[in-house]
Amino acid sequence: MDAQPYATAPADSPSLASLPVPPLLTSEFDADPGGVYERLRRTYGPVAPVGLMGVPVWLVLGYREVLQVLRDESVWRRDVRYWRARAQGWLPADWPLLAGYEVRQTMFMDGDEHRAARRTHHSALRPFQDGHTPQGWELRAAVARYTDELIGVLAAESGPTGFADLGAQYTRPLLLMVTTRLFGCPEELGDELVMDLWRMLDGGSDAGAATGRALAAMTRLAAHRRARPGDDLTSYMLLADPGLSDEQLGRELFMNAVYLNDVTGNMVLNTLLEVLRGNATVRLGLSAGQLGETVNRAALVNPPVANMCFRFAARDVRLGNFWIRAGDAVSPSAAAAHRDLLALDSSSPVDSTISTRAHLGWGAGQHQCPSPARELGGMIVATAVGRVFEHFARAELTLPSDQLPWRSGPVVRGLRLLPIRYELHGDVPLPGARGSSGEAPEPPEKPRAVGREARGLLTGLRRLMFGGR
Ligand code: HEM
Repeated sequence: MDAQPYATAPADSPSLASLPVPPLLTSEFDADPGGVYERLRRTYGPVAPVGLMGVPVWLVLGYREVLQVLRDESVWRRDVRYWRARAQGWLPADWPLLAGYEVRQTMFMDGDEHRAARRTHHSALRPFQDGHTPQGWELRAAVARYTDELIGVLAAESGPTGFADLGAQYTRPLLLMVTTRLFGCPEELGDELVMDLWRMLDGGSDAGAATGRALAAMTRLAAHRRARPGDDLTSYMLLADPGLSDEQLGRELFMNAVYLNDVTGNMVLNTLLEVLRGNATVRLGLSAGQLGETVNRAALVNPPVANMCFRFAARDVRLGNFWIRAGDAVSPSAAAAHRDLLALDSSSPVDSTISTRAHLGWGAGQHQCPSPARELGGMIVATAVGRVFEHFARAELTLPSDQLPWRSGPVVRGLRLLPIRYELHGDVPLPGARGSSGEAPEPPEKPRAVGREARGLLTGLRRLMFGGR
């Protein structure tokens, strides 16, 4: 008999609204998300009904089913207007995830509109994608300089041996500095922006207001660069699509800023953790070839985007053991799907005989991370991780790996901090001195800008961490 792609759900099949939905975000999930995914798998199969802060959605756990959802845009739509619960006014107005879904940008578009928006990202990111263009080369040099500078600040402030948090003192300021540069933020706007992104990413009590301010700041940045184009991503986006309004460009930049800060930062920290877990004596053991493999292994064990943004069923469709009704929301879980590839315990290393490149860390299908963004993100991760192991003679975790503090949330599983005890090599460049790499000459008109940026940013972040939240 022919398959019936447009069958409707049988009346006696359970609907999402009729099922009891276990809340996903519990203290058990915070401590051991893998264990929760396993239990859901045993109970429901590859697709499970869960509650996300009181709203029922389907969590897609199986690798095959996740790929199916990511790849078939004719069934699985991104436009939130397909979401029945939203259209029919069932979502609580103060539902914490709603504000993000209401920011209409590339990720939440379908079809021709999506393809056009994606072309704009591709074309604007392309100059920065690799080291073969002046823009790409300069950005690479800047990332290397920033890493040196931040390690130099650490050496100057805490000495050649001591304790550090590779999250707050290295990864987060690094990504914020890269964002400021790549987006072409004027200094004062950059300060404002990075502070609000920090608040937003950490989900403090003022996260909602900070999100609004960050969006507004991005919109102002769009207007600023429209008036004064430069050699930056914002200006290249306008060049690729001059019809973009300041508001729409602001929304696109906002999403890029989330990827560039939170997601890329997670990948740096997850990769550092992967190495630190298994290798206390650093530098010597880490060749360039191993680094790429380490990044992939880390993405497999702990994908930076654990549960991807919702897709909405365009029609009734069978997935796993359930009939998903038209308008239901599903969240494809890369973290759970990876457990299908490997029988993983969250604390054990990945079996090296299985291809680590099958990970879904970059997504898949029409909405996967655009290739120039992957190149860029990959370069930042490799530089950030590689530089640590170049400058540190020793680095070891000061907490057992099962006691590390993780941020809790439905989308991202990221480390709050990565505390280490370290010993630096003797050749670490001090702030304001030229980077040790030799490949990163300062432009003559901006001598020492990096030292000032690193120091200014760290001072701001400390203010934020130790007071005024
Ligand atoms: C290492 C860092 C990165 C990782 C792991 C990553 C991962 C991802 C993933 C998983 C998606 C798909 C999400 C989904 O389908 O729900 C995505 C989409 C996207 N990423 Fe990345 N990303 C990274 C860096 C970046 C950077 C640096 C940029 C830009 C500056 C960027 C721009 C985008 C854009 C524009 C999309 C949306 C594509 C679309 O909807 O068509 N990403 N990324």
